Amino acid sequence: MVVLTGAGMSAESGISTFRDAGGLWEKYPVEQVATPEGYAANPKLVIDFYNERRKQLSHVKPNHGHELVAELERYFQVTVVTQNVDNLHERAGSSQVIHLHGELTKVTSSWQPNDPRFIKELTPDEYEVKIGDVADDGSQLRPFIVWFGESVPMIEPAIEHCMEADVFLIIGTSLNVYPAAGLLNYVPDGVPVYLIDPNHVPIASGRQVHVIQKGASEGMEELMKLLLE
Ligand code: OAD
Repeated sequence: MVVLTGAGMSAESGISTFRDAGGLWEKYPVEQVATPEGYAANPKLVIDFYNERRKQLSHVKPNHGHELVAELERYFQVTVVTQNVDNLHERAGSSQVIHLHGELTKVTSSWQPNDPRFIKELTPDEYEVKIGDVADDGSQLRPFIVWFGESVPMIEPAIEHCMEADVFLIIGTSLNVYPAAGLLNYVPDGVPVYLIDPNHVPIASGRQVHVIQKGASEGMEELMKLLLE
């Protein structure tokens, strides 16, 4: 089973989504805080933005939806492919999580962000990154986040899992951002696809999808009943 998740997965934990009313991109211009150009123009603003998001991690907990996704591992071999940069899937117990857009708890080199030698997991006492903190190559430490316009290295393993899926589940993503939104196209024909979201999410491919129009927790309850009874 492959589970593709987005910001709506963490909404019930108190983390804002991006494009709903009151979402993050209404409060913070995306081009300032989530593009390489924004970072070049004002690194402190961007570093502080992610410091705030990182600090929030200590105050939020996985919700029932995350817990039920983790519980799926009792019945299926599950790969979670998430666009989220929080660590709530891992904290709920999911053992195989691919982060397409990076991870808040990690930092990397500003010069070579995808070089594994420079990607570093922060301990909670290091969560506040400052201007002047440097990676092992001497460059400013930057958030390990995939910004708009940057390559998405984890898309390759995600595609491979999608091609082998027997069940595909989508939770809490508006499917606006590529390449993540295109993953459904790699799921073989005939494989059942479920979508949990309280709002209507248009599916570009016209593929048959079993929609559960509910929030993540309630929707996961319903899905567990459908799959296991
Ligand atoms: P969006 O904010 O675009 O979409 C959030 C989705 O969650 C919407 O479809 C909502 O209807 C749904 N939703 C809201 N509350 C929910 C709940 N309680 N349970 C389930 N679903 C709920 O967020 P994403 O699709 O994740 O990238 O956005 C994709 C990417 O765009 C993000 O990873 C981020 C952003 O720019 C980067 O920062 C690189």
